[in-house]
Amino acid sequence: MAIDKLLTPLTVGKTTTANRIWMAPLTRSRAAQPGDLPAELNALYYSQRATAGLIVTEASQISRQGQGYAWTPGIYTDEQEAGWRQVVERVHAAGGKISLQLWHVGRISHHLLQADGAAPVAPSAVRAEGGKSFVVLPDGTPSNEPTDLPRALETSELPGIVADYVAAARRAMRAGFDLVEIHAANGYLLNQFLDTKANQRTDQYGGSLENRARLLLEVIDAIAAAIGADKVGVRLSPNGVFSDMSPIDNEATANYLAEQFQTRGLAYLHIAEPDWAGGVALTDDFRRSLRARFKGALVFCGHYTAEKAEVLLAAGIADAVAFGRPYIANPDLVARFAQGAALNPLDATTLYGGAEKGYTDYPTLAG
Ligand SMILES: Cc1cc2nc3c(=O)[nH]c(=O)nc-3n(C[C@H](O)[C@H](O)[C@H](O)COP(=O)(O)O)c2cc1C
Repeated sequence: MAIDKLLTPLTVGKTTTANRIWMAPLTRSRAAQPGDLPAELNALYYSQRATAGLIVTEASQISRQGQGYAWTPGIYTDEQEAGWRQVVERVHAAGGKISLQLWHVGRISHHLLQADGAAPVAPSAVRAEGGKSFVVLPDGTPSNEPTDLPRALETSELPGIVADYVAAARRAMRAGFDLVEIHAANGYLLNQFLDTKANQRTDQYGGSLENRARLLLEVIDAIAAAIGADKVGVRLSPNGVFSDMSPIDNEATANYLAEQFQTRGLAYLHIAEPDWAGGVALTDDFRRSLRARFKGALVFCGHYTAEKAEVLLAAGIADAVAFGRPYIANPDLVARFAQGAALNPLDATTLYGGAEKGYTDYPTLAG
């Protein structure tokens, strides 16, 4: 099947992407230590994938408090900013475009990752059932541990979190990123605020849909004021149940947010579909309801093939499709799709941590 639509350029805010095949954000837990720094190995990995229309980086914590897994890269120190700059320079030199995913994990964390062994923070003191955090134990052993019972954030602390997001977005711009993506998906802090179960607050950040959406919209407004709305994308995961999110109200929430994003002129809306990590599959009716509300670039991700993606674009429902696991194993995914070539299989044992193996050594068609 021809994939002409996927191979057509797309305007995203002020950025033009060469095609509509995006690389999804993928945590790989290979930041250099100490300091959670993006480094040469990561620059090589991303530059190998620079023929993607847009690379969305792995989630990058905006603060120490926002970290939930060992070895993920940060964007809150000068050294981390410098590390990301070398990643961006390599991707740009290879002709690619790149967006940095801004991350605060909220309750999906552990006291071993927090300053002074503090409890992680969340909208409410509600533990994520089945939530896991990846830590290095005091004896040096890496381990997946249950997340801690979080502490509820005081209302007076929220402006500080918004400020951390803004500082991270400014650093991203200084590092040369084309765009930033606010991670409001997959059960992390901003998703926890949206969620009726994780958020049991009685202040103006809890209760009604407008209240639960308030922190996300404040983060967006503050970042847009700092760097321009046309450089801002957002990721949502309606119906996703990852990390104990509840399916209640999800479509109404996403539709409301899509309208808010449209009013604010955001560059893109990225929907992580639920089926990769549980949850009821999205319908085309719901995808169309987002399309009707949001006129910026609308992107879907989750179990897509080139054929399925082309159908979605041809139907006018999406502007681009992002690919996650196929991009781990196929640095030249665009060429493979264009030629109808077979894909390399994914090695699931090398997803997180380690070095070159399963990271920068997947073969291209050229060898
Ligand atoms: C190893 C791995 C790491 C991931 N890390 C992130 C992440 O950092 N941020 C995020 O929003 N989604 C993350 N995801 C979800 C992917 O972006 C994507 O939504 C999911 O893999 C489904 O797309 P696929 O079927 O094309 O792989 C991750 C998924 C995998 C498999």
